[in-house]
Amino acid sequence: METVTKGIFINGLWEVKERSYALRAPYDGKVLANISKADAGDVDRAIAGAHRAFETMRKLPAHQRSRILQQAALQLRERKEEAALLLSQEAGKPIRTARAEIERTITTYEFAAEEAKRINGETIPMDAAPGGEGRLGFTWREPIGTVVAICPFNFPFNLVAHKLGPAIAAGNTVVLKPAEQTPLSALFMAELFQKAGLPDGALQVITGSGRELGDALVEDERVKKITFTGSSEVGKQIKAKAGLRKVTLELGSNSGLIIEPDVPIDKIIPRCVEGAFSFAGQVCISLQRIYVHESIYKPFAEQFIAKTEQLKVGDPSDELTDLSAMIHEREMHRIDSWVQEAVEAGATIGCGGRREGSVYLPTVLLHVKREMSVSCREVFAPVVSIVPYKELDEAIEMVNDSVYGLNVGIYTQHLNKAFHAAREIQAGGVIVNDIPTFRVDHMPYGGVKESGYGREGIKYAVQEMTELKFVSIKTQF
Ligand code: SIN
Repeated sequence: METVTKGIFINGLWEVKERSYALRAPYDGKVLANISKADAGDVDRAIAGAHRAFETMRKLPAHQRSRILQQAALQLRERKEEAALLLSQEAGKPIRTARAEIERTITTYEFAAEEAKRINGETIPMDAAPGGEGRLGFTWREPIGTVVAICPFNFPFNLVAHKLGPAIAAGNTVVLKPAEQTPLSALFMAELFQKAGLPDGALQVITGSGRELGDALVEDERVKKITFTGSSEVGKQIKAKAGLRKVTLELGSNSGLIIEPDVPIDKIIPRCVEGAFSFAGQVCISLQRIYVHESIYKPFAEQFIAKTEQLKVGDPSDELTDLSAMIHEREMHRIDSWVQEAVEAGATIGCGGRREGSVYLPTVLLHVKREMSVSCREVFAPVVSIVPYKELDEAIEMVNDSVYGLNVGIYTQHLNKAFHAAREIQAGGVIVNDIPTFRVDHMPYGGVKESGYGREGIKYAVQEMTELKFVSIKTQF
């Protein structure tokens, strides 16, 4: 069968470009489609179209924006198995995990549909200051304009939803650049939004890769906001180029979890294994460093390794597969070299530590030191370390000894310890009695330090994608 070539989506039309690349499934290398390669000229036209469409979007009443989002969610629900298969193939995500992402995506768009109806302001007691008497003061939130959304490969439906959903809810237009490896999910959603009645130009999808494309998207002054999920390195470059324009950056982490001796370890181990190896660890809040109290360290490590060894690796389309291919061969080499480097410096392998075809086996490392790459850098791979500690404050200090700070978890039954940890931990979120990988889609989500800037979670993202306007009315002359 002939391979289809997918076009970019500009002003409501699909444009197949002369230049394209073959999109291959990470697991078996099968060609899934040819993807059009946009150039800087396409980006210019996409931004111009989005800029024009903003005049329509900003005037669209809230109930209509809400309805478009509801319709998109509804259509995704109707085609959810098709969407999950697409996602599973292009990202190498096990089918059960892909289905869970589609369910989350539907919820995210539903939250956005609700949020569109409650973007509000407040009244200001103007007479609280001398000179303010006889005036009515109030605020409202206005859409910001054209938003550039640059999305990663790891949640190609739901992380796109976290940018598109609030942008549309607020009345903005979006130029979306999906990851090079996962454009099909974004193009699928563009089709659904068109059917849902989103005005032409309100969503433009640019596919391809390279510096020229990235620069053209970020440097254009008609773009009023850039929202990016990806590496800290690229996040810093975007922020430097954004000047006075708004940015939201959801970046990496080496998420930690503290396990106090008062918890029943058999009850939490399956969840910890899930946190470390879901989607082969290619999750910004994947569990990477586990700090376990020394009194339970040995049984915890033994049971954790035993549970990890039961994970089924292989084809993402197999219903039983827990863990499949890493996204790219170069990522496989990177993580393998980090593991080897750790072993040479004294770490020991509890299980895994090698590849099997396109899959990196789920790997548990012991005797890891904090300066090793597998600990202090973001692994973004199925590799976790288990480290003992004596005192809670020592564990908190080790968790905080990181350039990152996204989500951190702590298991304890002591309320005072939980509060102490929540206060002392340097992170955007502290998750008590669960793994740092926990996320539901309306909670505020984002990091401190090199983990990012700004917050997602629909309500919080809407705030970042709107401008606060203040109005004062003098009620008498
Ligand atoms: C991420 O990897 O940034 C998102 C994780 C999630 O939404 O669960």
